[in-house]
Amino acid sequence: MDEGRKAAKLAKTQADRYVEELIEIATIPSISTLPEHAADIRLAAGWVCDRLRAIGFENVEVLPTEKHPVAYGEWLHAPSHATVLIYGHYDVQPVDPIDLWHSNPFEPSVQGDYLYGRGVSDMKGQLLAILKALELLRRTGELTVNVKVLVEGEEEIGSPSLQAFCLRERDRLSCDLILNTDGAMLGRDLPTLVYGLRGLAYFDVKLTGPDHDLHSGMFGGSVHNPAQVLCELVAGMHDTEGRVTLPGFYDKVQPLSTEDRAEIALGPCSDKEWRGLTGVPELFGEQGYTTLERVGARPTLEVNGLTSGYSGEGQKTVLPAKATAKISMRLVPDQDPKSVGEQLRSYFREHTPPTVRLELKTLAENPPVRIRRHAPGMSAAAQSLRETFGNEPVYTLEGGSIPAVSILGGTLGVDSVLMGFSLPDDNIHSLNERFYLPNLARGVEAYIRFFNHLATLGVV
Ligand code: BES
Ligand code: MN
Repeated sequence: MDEGRKAAKLAKTQADRYVEELIEIATIPSISTLPEHAADIRLAAGWVCDRLRAIGFENVEVLPTEKHPVAYGEWLHAPSHATVLIYGHYDVQPVDPIDLWHSNPFEPSVQGDYLYGRGVSDMKGQLLAILKALELLRRTGELTVNVKVLVEGEEEIGSPSLQAFCLRERDRLSCDLILNTDGAMLGRDLPTLVYGLRGLAYFDVKLTGPDHDLHSGMFGGSVHNPAQVLCELVAGMHDTEGRVTLPGFYDKVQPLSTEDRAEIALGPCSDKEWRGLTGVPELFGEQGYTTLERVGARPTLEVNGLTSGYSGEGQKTVLPAKATAKISMRLVPDQDPKSVGEQLRSYFREHTPPTVRLELKTLAENPPVRIRRHAPGMSAAAQSLRETFGNEPVYTLEGGSIPAVSILGGTLGVDSVLMGFSLPDDNIHSLNERFYLPNLARGVEAYIRFFNHLATLGVV
């Protein structure tokens, strides 16, 4: 049980250096969805590889994919011991609306206990924590398992190249267990193990009416306004109580088990806190479920964006030529992204009037995942969190998605354990994203302990 003690102790004493390095990587605007940031994506991948080399990892390479590269490295000097594949991502979400940030998203700044900047919580903080954990374990000679590190640059756009990459690199990536570092906690002192993630199906809808914007007085009344048609179509997919009305949408949804309900009920979040987190005057959602159930275990359909016509200052009397919507669904077991996508397509095909033209593109199809609570590695993770935070970990179903969990599981046939340290009020994907700095040292410590326990518990 003493293995890894030196590294775990050191973890607490080096926190200042962690922040400096976190600032370094968080300064790189590695926004995966924007083509103008392609060079920054390469810079971030290179940064990860430089760190891996510096801590003595081998076969470190920026590996190309169809789109953004993977940073890879390995340390395989524990023959006859287990191999852990670490998963993370170095890409981040866009920053708009940038005017609403208190500080520049790519000039990370410390304020009190927080570091503010895009991507610090999702997930460069965790990335730094795992790199530091590996560094300390190597430095003290306490790394007793084999480690492969895969840090991708496409998570925030749905990991479109990861499947093909994993199939191509299957041998290189072979492992006994995956540690996914893109996880989250339910509260500052609540170490959390995520045991399920919702899937994501994403669609781009475009309606075109006239072939150019028209004077709304000269032509209004004689042609169908695409903005209005789109609003009616969008509105027609829910009932007034928040249930999705696409025929068949709930057919495959597994009812919540008593066990899941009990686990979710342990989550500490009151509706009042949830209102505080979101700033809404009142919560809204499907009847018969608690807030955390609605988020973790029930499917949704959301409008992520809606554009049409004029939205500048003042007025412009225009009848828009087109209207577009970004629509996504969060899916739960056993919903299948392809079938719900078909349901959406049929709905739009049937209900779009002949007065406008419809174009519908599918942008993402990621299935939901559940991780067996007794999967290898879960107990090692629970033990390391317990020791680091001094509290019993809670198990939760997360409403967000991480396509890599099902892709790696499917291509490599290996379970993932999710352990990460972002907090519900870190504003991930939003403005003023921040990382709670005490979680940096705690993250390093928890990851170190995880590796120790894997070895001592003989988990894999
Ligand atoms: N880290 C998040 C997922 C997450 C959020 C895990 C909250 C735990 C708690 C991840 O980076 C993410 O945002 N994923 C995207 C995936 C999508 C683009 C396919 C998401 O959920 O929107
Ligand atoms: Mn994210």
